[in-house]
Amino acid sequence: MPLETLSKSYEAYEKAFQAFLDHSTARQSIVKCVQDGTKRALVAISSVCDKNKPFRMLGIGSGKGEMDVLMINSVAAHLKANETDVKPTIHSVVVEPSSFLLEKFKESASSMPTSLIALAEISFEWRQMTFQEYQRLIADDKSKPSLDFIHFIHSIYYMDAEDALRSCFRNYLGEKGAILCLVQTEASFFAKVQKKFKGKLTFGSEDMTIYTKEDLAAIAARSTGWSYDEITQEFSIDITKCFGEPSEESDLLLDFLTHQKNFRVTADQGLKDEVMDFFRESMVTDESGGKFLKAEMAAVIIHK
Ligand SMILES: C[S@@+](CC[C@H](N)C(=O)[O-])C[C@H]1O[C@@H](n2cnc3c(N)ncnc32)[C@H](O)[C@@H]1O
Repeated sequence: MPLETLSKSYEAYEKAFQAFLDHSTARQSIVKCVQDGTKRALVAISSVCDKNKPFRMLGIGSGKGEMDVLMINSVAAHLKANETDVKPTIHSVVVEPSSFLLEKFKESASSMPTSLIALAEISFEWRQMTFQEYQRLIADDKSKPSLDFIHFIHSIYYMDAEDALRSCFRNYLGEKGAILCLVQTEASFFAKVQKKFKGKLTFGSEDMTIYTKEDLAAIAARSTGWSYDEITQEFSIDITKCFGEPSEESDLLLDFLTHQKNFRVTADQGLKDEVMDFFRESMVTDESGGKFLKAEMAAVIIHK
């Protein structure tokens, strides 16, 4: 049976991602990067944050939108903090190809926390499509968007990063504006697995490239007028169960770490051995026998 990429099946991806969150400290790192990255971006563009004009955001690959809600919260608090009598307006365009995930986002958007509704008027525009499709749609539209803030939270892996960032910077951001990207770093397990297993696993294929902060810094360095900033966060992945008896939980975690659907059942023995050997070489073991992979992610802020 050929290997099937995980990201094409959103329901399978969701389950594997949940197993990954349950066996790692990634969630805290994602939240920290999103909150601190948004704050840093807002400070960089604060001179143009006019509370009397709608603050316009674009979320690319927003999934269920949990991180979008955090960012909207930060934006609302930032705009409100500077002005007590005006309720700011935030308009968010959401580009997400999965109808499954987008429906979940719409559900949560229909019951926003009252504390957030008290801070700002929030509206959404839903675009169920890939970013590439959105680019084509916008190209035909004479009135280009003039956005304040664009974000890719672990979603730039599914497109050509340089092309995506350039079109956002040149064509979509307003006179001043910022882009926030959450990506891996060269020191991360995911970047290392991509180097080691290129051509054998989804990483580094036409479906997905693990871009790192170093890749984005290089793109920013060869682009005129781009200001670049970054925040890094380490996290660890507990892979102890991958070495025990097979279970649904360990299979799902293995699926996320290889980005293949049903890896244990569909991969040939040689590849499985290579992956497990790679885990052994990369992991650290604690006193009680727990096995952990070290990983690192970054919030990259690019602004005008
Ligand atoms: C790793 S998930 C991140 C989801 C969300 N940003 C979060 O942090 O919870 C990647 C997201 O990118 C979306 N995606 C995949 N290919 C895409 C593309 N070509 N354009 C836009 N989004 C894409 C997926 O549907 C998925 O929701």
